[in-house]
Amino acid sequence: MATAQELPLRTATPARWAAQVLAAPLPLLSDHAFLEKKAATNALDLLNRWPDPDPPTHWVRKLAAIARDEVEHLGVVARLLAERDGALGRLHRNPYAAALRKLVRLGEGPRDTLDRLLVSALIEGRSCERFAVLAAASPDSDLARIYKGLHGSELGHFLTFRELAEHVPLSQREIATRWNALLDAEAEIIATQPPGPRVLSGVA
Ligand SMILES: [Fe+2]
Ligand SMILES: [Fe+2]
Repeated sequence: MATAQELPLRTATPARWAAQVLAAPLPLLSDHAFLEKKAATNALDLLNRWPDPDPPTHWVRKLAAIARDEVEHLGVVARLLAERDGALGRLHRNPYAAALRKLVRLGEGPRDTLDRLLVSALIEGRSCERFAVLAAASPDSDLARIYKGLHGSELGHFLTFRELAEHVPLSQREIATRWNALLDAEAEIIATQPPGPRVLSGVA
């Protein structure tokens, strides 16, 4: 499992959150499937936003790999849902991600790109942390194994988004200051989420 240094989130999810969300496994899987879909489209959206004058080879390869992983995760979660006679809902809301995305400084050139990458890293990082908590608490060994695997994959994505953020043409100091501010904001946002069977929900 990830170390605190690899995953520098300001707050840890308590084990009781997992017990709460695992009580409704099908809505939880449906929410999860949408998160994977959104993660895939987000990686594809970022694909052509490489910061000038960085040559795009590394950028495109990394984001294409994330998109491929997320589509694979979507397939795994869709299979879990189908095996349990669950179905994907048509509509999905993710107030946690919406609140984080509001912090993106739209239209501000490299700052816009930096914020998109750091917000992506935060969503990956929190999802990664949540999968570890779910893996530890899941009474279903098949699910626990899959959550553990996803934990590792999302950790890799977290690290990739952090690494890509270092390519944005802004000073190291500015990037670090923004990262710290967004980590603080994330802690507040996750703490104020409503509870419910979602990967990125609050604690009842
Ligand atoms: Fe994923
Ligand atoms: Fe991911």
